[in-house]
Amino acid sequence: MVNRMSFVTQSAMETRRLGEYLGRLMKAGDVVLLDGTLGAGKTTFVQGVARGLGVHGDVTSPTFTLVAEYAGRVPVAHMDLYRLQPSPGTGAALAEGDLAAIGMDDYLDGSHAVLVEWPGDLVETVADALHVEIVPRPLPHVDERELHCRASGARSWEILDEWVKEWLF
Ligand SMILES: Nc1ncnc2c1ncn2[C@@H]1O[C@H](COP(=O)(O)OP(=O)(O)OP(=O)(O)O)[C@@H](O)[C@H]1O
Ligand SMILES: [Mg+2]
Repeated sequence: MVNRMSFVTQSAMETRRLGEYLGRLMKAGDVVLLDGTLGAGKTTFVQGVARGLGVHGDVTSPTFTLVAEYAGRVPVAHMDLYRLQPSPGTGAALAEGDLAAIGMDDYLDGSHAVLVEWPGDLVETVADALHVEIVPRPLPHVDERELHCRASGARSWEILDEWVKEWLF
């Protein structure tokens, strides 16, 4: 079993396809945390994951509503916590009150497959999650992305392992 893996994609379509392979093996209770700069490709990846989870229809970033729910094979919650980020450089955590207001604990209680853009310190606080950091590649490779993935617990290790096998073989 691996707990880290990196992928390179050559296009938005390939990032969606890679996400779709992940979504196909996700269950309720699984958590994927997505880091990367503005426009890195987090939502693009989530669109593929949602498709793999059996979600039909458009998936867009819930920038203003913070959470979008979708009905897939299992209930899916897609969050974009960009607006909740503390000022850069302060090292502060996401505010407990903000997380409570969006019902984060209820989404993390095992009832949903959870996908979080801009997770901030949830990367340290969620016990078992797959962390995916999307990194654009230097010019002139404008359509290439590196996806650095790390599993932090038993279930996310299992998902990462299966995902890698499905994608590569
Ligand atoms: N290999 C690639 N993978 C993903 N997106 C790519 C790739 N190549 C080009 N793109 C483009 O990069 C953009 C990624 O936008 P997207 O909204 O997914 O980013 P984001 O990380 O969710 O940004 P934000 O932080 O604003 O939510 C899209 O326009 C997409 O078409
Ligand atoms: Mg986004």
